[in-house]
Amino acid sequence: MPTLRRSDGVLVLGNVSLAEVARDPRFGTPAYVYDVDAIAAEGRDLRAAFDDAPHLVAYAVKANSAGPIVKALAAVGCGADVVSGAELTLALRCGVSPESVVFSGVAKTDAELDLAIGSGERGICSIQVESVEEIPRIAARAAAAGRVARVSLRINPGVDKEALDTHSYIATGHDEAKFGVPLSSVPGALDRVSRSPSLRLVGVGSHVGSQLTAVDGYVASARALFELTREVRARFPLTFVDTGGGFGIDYGEGCPVRPADFVRATRALQKEKGLDDLALYCEPGRSLVGAHGVLVASIIQRKVAEGRRWTMIDAGMNDLMRPALYQARHRIVPVVLDAAAAASAYHVVGPVCESSDDFGVHDLPDDTAQSHLREVAILDAGAYGYSMASRYNGRAMASEVFLSGGKIVGATARSAVEEWVQDRLRAGAPLV
Ligand SMILES: Cc1ncc(COP(=O)(O)O)c(C=O)c1O
Repeated sequence: MPTLRRSDGVLVLGNVSLAEVARDPRFGTPAYVYDVDAIAAEGRDLRAAFDDAPHLVAYAVKANSAGPIVKALAAVGCGADVVSGAELTLALRCGVSPESVVFSGVAKTDAELDLAIGSGERGICSIQVESVEEIPRIAARAAAAGRVARVSLRINPGVDKEALDTHSYIATGHDEAKFGVPLSSVPGALDRVSRSPSLRLVGVGSHVGSQLTAVDGYVASARALFELTREVRARFPLTFVDTGGGFGIDYGEGCPVRPADFVRATRALQKEKGLDDLALYCEPGRSLVGAHGVLVASIIQRKVAEGRRWTMIDAGMNDLMRPALYQARHRIVPVVLDAAAAASAYHVVGPVCESSDDFGVHDLPDDTAQSHLREVAILDAGAYGYSMASRYNGRAMASEVFLSGGKIVGATARSAVEEWVQDRLRAGAPLV
């Protein structure tokens, strides 16, 4: 559960005042602030939902790749779902065992495959095959390394986008999606694997979409996956079945289900289908980190024009891209709230020169002598926030502040603007 609360009007995360963080010159704003203990507790709680059954909670590193967070989840026994060589390297350096890493992605390069195949004593737990065409490529790299690579088939179960109750940009298990092997191509894929001595098929999986706020669509896709798994295991000695990530969180509009509900429903179905001797894997990202991070921003100025009220903040779409990318809405609240101050509806926008640099309309206190409104907190920004950030418009990367045990345990300062200037000046310099 999120540990955000208000104490004497001040917003507190993990027992640390966000006003103090925002006004600390070592960090500045915009600043991402994360409750690392709460994130570890999410990982622990989700693992507990499996009881003692064999499982892997493979944290989707793309959601938030900050070292302290990946390390905290590794420390409570989570593995990693990675989508690049860089994420794989990071996960291993954060203490995730190669045996607990699955590698997804539709276009893995040869160098990335080599890294996965060469990690640890026998390569990573599984390279997730996303197309028939990828199979001979993985087989060739494994043969060249003199190893047998473990692979799993990520199928695309063809779940209708509408059935999933999520934004179409984050629905991945439908017919038009680039992800996964469509059911019609599975027989061909299995033949290819069986003809490749350097490959061993160890699992079957799917990931149908993100921010799912009901278990039904997830369970429907798990049903299709399990039915296929029964057929596949007759030919291949599988060790796991992977139902993917996608567990939703409450962005303010409600989310009646918890991550453990998805796991319990899937486990029940797994038993019903007679597959409970296989380990059950899942790949949650957002649900482990989303609610436990906020983006604190300072108010630069206000503007009232043409009957509209604007609040301009120092965080933009380059810092938190979700609203611009898929019309996501995040709650925005004052860091210090004067209960007596009158409030109005303001369009909250950032400094980036794009109309889509817009965080929506929010009730915020008006400017008065008593109003202490200097900073706001954008809530539920722990997932797909910093990990998607860019330096567009020459903007600095936000600072990151990590909380544990009721105090700040680490931080990264904002990047220097000069770094960006130097980088752009170096562009096109002769290669040495
Ligand atoms: C293959 C795969 N697994 C897991 C995830 C994590 O999803 P979520 O953060 O919604 O749990 C994603 C997200 O895009 C994904 O593509």
